Amino acid sequence: MTVTRGQIDRARVAEIGAREEAEYRRRTPKSAALFERAQDAMPLGVASSFQAYDPYPLFMTDARGSRIWDADGNEYVDFDMAFGVLAAGHSHPILAEALQRRVANGTCYTFPVEDGIALAEEIKARFGADLVRFSNSGTEATMDAIRVARGYTGREKIVKFEGGYHGHHDDVLVSIQPPRDAMGPDDQPATVPASAGIPRSRIAETVVAPFNEPEVLAAILEAHRGEIAAMIVEPVQFNIGVVPPEPGFLERLRELADEHGIMLIFDEVKTGVVLAYGGAVEYFGVQPDLLCLAKSIGGGVPIGAFGGRADVMLAIEGGDPDAGAPIASFDGSDRSELTSTIAYVPNRVAHLGTFNGNPLSMAAGLATLTRILTKDAYPKLHALADQLTAGCQAVLDEYELPGYAINVGPKGCVMFTPERVTNYRDFIGLDSELWTAFFFYLANRGILLPPGPDDQWTLSVQHTEEEVERHVAVFREFATELTA
Ligand SMILES: Cc1ncc(COP(=O)(O)O)c(C=O)c1O
Repeated sequence: MTVTRGQIDRARVAEIGAREEAEYRRRTPKSAALFERAQDAMPLGVASSFQAYDPYPLFMTDARGSRIWDADGNEYVDFDMAFGVLAAGHSHPILAEALQRRVANGTCYTFPVEDGIALAEEIKARFGADLVRFSNSGTEATMDAIRVARGYTGREKIVKFEGGYHGHHDDVLVSIQPPRDAMGPDDQPATVPASAGIPRSRIAETVVAPFNEPEVLAAILEAHRGEIAAMIVEPVQFNIGVVPPEPGFLERLRELADEHGIMLIFDEVKTGVVLAYGGAVEYFGVQPDLLCLAKSIGGGVPIGAFGGRADVMLAIEGGDPDAGAPIASFDGSDRSELTSTIAYVPNRVAHLGTFNGNPLSMAAGLATLTRILTKDAYPKLHALADQLTAGCQAVLDEYELPGYAINVGPKGCVMFTPERVTNYRDFIGLDSELWTAFFFYLANRGILLPPGPDDQWTLSVQHTEEEVERHVAVFREFATELTA
């Protein structure tokens, strides 16, 4: 669908962008000084390269509810919510109390705890998963799920979708936002590494497909018949703004996975317990073989999880004794003399981690899921998000700006492009200069968005209608100035 819009004045965009960046520098001298110091301690001055942006990131000191404060004491209504981690909001009192109790009683045992069983049971119930394992991040969850799928199927290749992000391990750190001249033809996207240091041999096993193009995908799977272990997908592409699946796309993935014996993995790191009580599985009504969780399930504490079909997850035990067929052995060697947990069973898929299921994360996850993000939290989250999207769309319409507002559940954004984006190749057309002016304009007026057009706002149970109205009002001021 094309949205017809008036032209915007490029000189005006540049002028507002420069003025607002200067204002940002004026308001945040302590962040500038901390950034200066940080550069001598960490590459790019940050702990994760995602935190770096020009001219320097805000350094934060405090956050409560929907509010966050930077080192200069500036207060923001936080619509970033830690890249979507905080559907529960900052330091929810229920979570804070559960964590305080846990901190006083030991935070790491490397022995299992009952909270871990309860949290696994909660995830099973929400997502229709038979079995669950924990990790410490989304990266670990997708890495582990892919290994289980490979161990279960005995195949090595995987499919990922162009524009999708699944964490920073080698298998999937490809074709995230590939440059135009490297990305290959529409019907045969190239596998483009998104980092130096990734061996070519490693990513030779990763096949890239376009999102929302079921027929192209069918042809790609046919070309690799019998070779693909897993197809990993963000049910909504939330790392290129907001790109929902076209009607029927996820259902088609399910059919194609069944036809080819491929494990369908939903990467629900951003969607899980945010879009709905049962994440994208509930929201779209499509059941994957495996799913990956992180971010929101911990309420702000590091955590990851993956789970799914019993027969597939039992690859971690060495196979389902009731299923008859053993899990595919990777080399068939006799390891009976070896005693380590990893090597002892030849067909067993290793899933390991010192901090997996640690008492702190388990307490956080349990409090978040069973006492904060309960079923009755979702109508409010959806209503607030619809209010924000409708408000932003009204501004775009009134001022005829080239863009549209979109949300899926409590996550949304303004996409500054007149064309509806259905996959990464459309996303490249986004007006990043306009977006940057918009980001600084809002930040300088106390509305904090994630620092890049590839992310989106996330609402929490602690946001209010008034805060959403304020966000819309500041956007209206921006539009007024832009078109004056
Ligand atoms: C969809 C998706 N999968 C995986 C990850 C990786 O999660 P983490 O940063 O916790 O490793 C992210 C992070 O943004 C993500 O958005």
